[in-house]
Amino acid sequence: MPTLLHVNASPRYANSDSLRLARHFIDAVQTAGPESFEVETLNLFDDHVLPAFGRVAAAAKMAVFTGQDQTPEQVAAWEAARAVFDQFASADAYVFNIPMWNAGVPYVLKQWIDVMTQPGWSFGFDPGQGYRGLLEGKHALAVHTSGVYAPGVPAAFGSDFSSTFFADWLNFVGIEDAVHVRFAPTVLNGDVDGTREVAEAELLDAAIEFAGKLSTAGTLQLVND
Ligand SMILES: Cc1cc2nc3c(=O)[nH]c(=O)nc-3n(C[C@H](O)[C@H](O)[C@H](O)COP(=O)(O)O)c2cc1C
Repeated sequence: MPTLLHVNASPRYANSDSLRLARHFIDAVQTAGPESFEVETLNLFDDHVLPAFGRVAAAAKMAVFTGQDQTPEQVAAWEAARAVFDQFASADAYVFNIPMWNAGVPYVLKQWIDVMTQPGWSFGFDPGQGYRGLLEGKHALAVHTSGVYAPGVPAAFGSDFSSTFFADWLNFVGIEDAVHVRFAPTVLNGDVDGTREVAEAELLDAAIEFAGKLSTAGTLQLVND
């Protein structure tokens, strides 16, 4: 059965604009979609879902880079990071909801990315060719929200290093098939409901195509089993 991993990067749960749209999208995929697929949800702001990636884990990473043995403490940190990566890599498709925080992504999303963006897992490196993403054949949809910023606003209303960073990271790890839908501004807006409806309509369109890709992922899995 294909698996969809939903990564929620908002801590606002019942009040979250981006989470509501992500759920709207997943419901639409379920309606349009393959007979069944599994949805796993990762609430990045829940306690204890992410290991720290500090002194020990960074040393473990550098040991991999330089071909040295890891200490037992580093092995444990590396295994904790690997578990996060394994959950990510085992999904066929992804839905992300990402509120803009201080022009970037919320820190827990950056932590999730830093924990599992590791050499040999999500990317390879060749001194002559550079980086290569290793997660091939995956599909992603990301919902981006911001309270004040929207494309085309004057510079005094902020910048977007959130969707640009995130789109770049998806590409970096090899997820080239990615759709980005924006609902903005969510606060400084004379027509919040109208703007939300435009995003919902975009998501409905995207859901039909996404459902077809999930069906194909299920078929490919059956062939490979
Ligand atoms: C800590 C924090 C930082 C924020 N920074 C920005 C920002 O830089 N630019 C902006 O337009 N909105 C900013 N906002 C507003 C949110 O992006 C906006 O309310 C968004 O819709 C929240 O999505 P959510 O309801 O899914 O959590 C910020 C909100 C919070 C809580």
